[in-house]
Amino acid sequence: MIALGCDHGGFELKEAIRRHLEDNQVEYRDFGIYENKSVDYPEIANIVSHAVADGQCGLGILCCGTGIGMSMAANKVDGVRAACCSDYFSAKYTRLHNDANVLCLGGRVLGEGLALELVDVFLNTKFEGGRHQKRIEMLAQIEKGQL
Ligand code: RB5
Repeated sequence: MIALGCDHGGFELKEAIRRHLEDNQVEYRDFGIYENKSVDYPEIANIVSHAVADGQCGLGILCCGTGIGMSMAANKVDGVRAACCSDYFSAKYTRLHNDANVLCLGGRVLGEGLALELVDVFLNTKFEGGRHQKRIEMLAQIEKGQL
């Protein structure tokens, strides 16, 4: 199950991603917004991030104008590793090496075609584990003030 969310800057892109997931029979939960009105991105990032951190959803996708505000907010939630990506290599390797569980995209940065490619590679790439596992654990230690 994929958690989706956006603010007004990412609304059109979130809608395109929602349609894309639907076309490809990928299960998702849309946490809004559901119409293009101004909202505060931390609010939506918080809801989507908790859905991922609590295990209700395996991965999340957040869209705002740049993707940056969403990623900053999402990374405040314990257990979330959010990556703001605008190129294919990063979207792939943030799954392989960082086990990122939330992808953040900029609706004012990316064209729809590239954004959907980033979504596909993010959703279809698995964490490599191995030497990267320890580094993921170190991220959690930073969160707990133990590093
Ligand atoms: C909203 O205008 C904009 O600031 C927001 O969508 C996002 O880009 C923040 O990082």
